[in-house]
Amino acid sequence: MNLTHIEHLGIDVKSIEACLPYYECVIGLKCYNIEEVADQKVKTAFFKVGQTKIELLEPTSEDSTIAKFIANKGEGIHHIAFATDSVTDALADAAEKGIRLIDTAPRGGAEGLQIAFLHPKSTCSVLTELCEDPNK
Ligand code: CO
Repeated sequence: MNLTHIEHLGIDVKSIEACLPYYECVIGLKCYNIEEVADQKVKTAFFKVGQTKIELLEPTSEDSTIAKFIANKGEGIHHIAFATDSVTDALADAAEKGIRLIDTAPRGGAEGLQIAFLHPKSTCSVLTELCEDPNK
């Protein structure tokens, strides 16, 4: 799959605002972007640790998949996202190895990345995202 690094960790929270003091004042990361992804019904907040980001995910609607995830499992780590130079190639590779795909083609995600998810049933129960930066 030619993964280069962990692009981000996605963490579900009920309220970004309530979590900012911990991330900014306790562990000392700076929130550099807050962005709403309307089609995912989610608000995101980003922090950087080296080249890896922390992505907080707050549902903006009760029928958001993130709201359902929080209702079932509580707040916490939601997914791991790997950077790759080609999501299309990584998906083809995964499909060839019998991995169940949530997205069969890359789609637009937060921060202008092209993303796709692999199904946790095929990834040792960790929801896994692949990310490609089209500007690189
Ligand atoms: Co993500």
